[in-house]
Amino acid sequence: MSVPWWCQDLKFACKSLIWRMTCLHFARSSRSVIAMHLYATPEKPHLIPVIDISKVHDPAGLAEAAHQVREACLETGFFYVTGHGVPADFVAAQFAAARAFFALPLEDKLAIHMRQSPSTAGYEPIGGQSLDSQDSDSEKAPPDLKETFYCCLELPQDHPLSLRKMRGYGHNQWPAALPDFSGQMIDYYARMSALGDRILSIIAVSLDLEPDWFKPFYAPGSATQRLIHYPPQPARAAFNQMGAGAHTDWGGITILAQDDAGGLEVRTVDDKWIEATPIPESFVVNLGDLMARWTNGVYRSNLHRVMTRQGGRDRYSVPFFYSPSPDSIIEPMPTCLGEGRPRQFATCTAAEHMGEMFRRSYGYSLAS
Ligand SMILES: [Fe+2]
Repeated sequence: MSVPWWCQDLKFACKSLIWRMTCLHFARSSRSVIAMHLYATPEKPHLIPVIDISKVHDPAGLAEAAHQVREACLETGFFYVTGHGVPADFVAAQFAAARAFFALPLEDKLAIHMRQSPSTAGYEPIGGQSLDSQDSDSEKAPPDLKETFYCCLELPQDHPLSLRKMRGYGHNQWPAALPDFSGQMIDYYARMSALGDRILSIIAVSLDLEPDWFKPFYAPGSATQRLIHYPPQPARAAFNQMGAGAHTDWGGITILAQDDAGGLEVRTVDDKWIEATPIPESFVVNLGDLMARWTNGVYRSNLHRVMTRQGGRDRYSVPFFYSPSPDSIIEPMPTCLGEGRPRQFATCTAAEHMGEMFRRSYGYSLAS
């Protein structure tokens, strides 16, 4: 016998109420017990600078960009880049591919589920991840309201890096219904890697290091490219549930293309939230946890989140996570240690930290 609709609605309302009361109870009784970051409306942006990197090929231009990058990284760890040389129509083609992919029937997307790939490349359905997972007791955070697609460096199955079955290398799964999709993804991956190298050289100079200081750690880098679709915030979302819960990124740097729907929010040094408003033909760049470890906490890997609006538009974004190779040993760089600056983090490999963050947010560990 089928259950009447009003009965299902009542059941949902009761579950929501219990969830809300439970969270409020924890929030009042012990701040340390609740793992997630409760949502509050953000302020208008005023601290995320726009940095033109078109002149970094000459020393004066590089020094100026490095100065601006340093200011940003000491503050929110977020900045926009313009003058990057990536054509607007090429980025538009990436968004067109993303929209075409997410418009496929669910069964087509599930046919390439990320769990089937040793590198976790493929489709992640809505609710597959809880990004608000910075604390180890993060099971209290509700799952994110986004669906995504991951791709890694395209490699033959018998390549030594593919054989290690790690995140970032090989084992891509492509949608059968979109024959041109893989070519676009592979081209975008290459372009973002080149842009990532340029941004890393600016960051190195901003830290009084040689421009190629990061190069040995990125030979090859471990990058994952992601397409993300955020539907409008549903009226029936759970308490504090949003497109992407508050989190830091895990690796080196993130280069994000976002459409004009809005929704990305960034926490400031004084614990407020501000909007990272879409700016045409720009990328949003932010530092990940490994950059904070490298800089001994001098530069920030900052909390951010995504909240779309009820009844609003779908949001599409394309982050490129550019991280050091998995075996890289992450220790403070020489210019970030010294008197008055004791070590903030233990030594780790890139794979150790990123593997742990994957486990916390997805609830399972990678095979290797
Ligand atoms: Fe992020």
